Amino acid sequence: MNKLHEANRQSWNANAQFWKELRDRDQLWRKCCDTTEIAFEGQALELIQYYSKDIATKQICIIGSGDNYAAFALASLGAAVTSVDISENQLAVAQERAKALSLDINFVRADAANLTLLADNMFDLVFSSNGFYVWIADLLGVLSEITRVLRPGGYYIFYDVHPFQRPWSHANVETIELVKPYWEVGPTIEAGTNPQYEFHYTMADLVNAIVDSGLLIRKMIESPPSDSRFWQDFAYEPGTDKRLMDWRINPRAGLPAWLTLVTQRNL
Ligand SMILES: C[S@@+](CC[C@H](N)C(=O)[O-])C[C@H]1O[C@@H](n2cnc3c(N)ncnc32)[C@H](O)[C@@H]1O
Repeated sequence: MNKLHEANRQSWNANAQFWKELRDRDQLWRKCCDTTEIAFEGQALELIQYYSKDIATKQICIIGSGDNYAAFALASLGAAVTSVDISENQLAVAQERAKALSLDINFVRADAANLTLLADNMFDLVFSSNGFYVWIADLLGVLSEITRVLRPGGYYIFYDVHPFQRPWSHANVETIELVKPYWEVGPTIEAGTNPQYEFHYTMADLVNAIVDSGLLIRKMIESPPSDSRFWQDFAYEPGTDKRLMDWRINPRAGLPAWLTLVTQRNL
């Protein structure tokens, strides 16, 4: 058992109601089936469709599934989806929403670093997204498990916050202020009743763990956000300040916001 992952599980359990209420505000989760693109950033949906053709015939695993928008979108395209999250409370919210959307999804509570509930070579595609790696203490453990559950030739595609966005202060959008060195990975500890442990990996940390797990890198994309909400808060509602997309006003907009990688298990 990974103690830091377990602590993060407690913290996600404690915060699940907050996230449920935030997502219920705009009800966007109801639209993932008809408007699948709202569940993805960083060209991830286009890449999934390009590398994993005939999606309706695929077995897909979403890890660190959180709000499950990607799971809802891919299930509505006909894929057989398994949704894995470490927090039972996060999964309970997702399960309730899947029922409301009449989607048949297999929900599994597990640490992504220990997927023993899932057999070897099971999936055509594994996917993770936005804000997953920040919770992971054991990068190689997670990537080795992803590799194991993928069938030979299967793809692991993810997008996440680009490492170049991590060292800056978020206090004021109009100034760019370094608050830690790029190489300071952490963990940073959010103290409180349920302390949580966050990691800010560098590009090299991610790429080396991918390579060491045996996955091959097929494509890398560094992109801006599609909407100014990225710079505002955690809502999915459209951002209200379009000026934040201009790097002359918001200097961090001059750096990539998303890192998207397509990796493949060897045949
Ligand atoms: C910020 S959310 C983002 C997830 C998803 N991409 C989304 O957009 O909702 C992070 C999710 O990862 C889950 N998580 C954190 N650590 C995990 C781990 N070790 N294994 C599996 N899931 C984990 C949390 O419970 C939470 O639901």
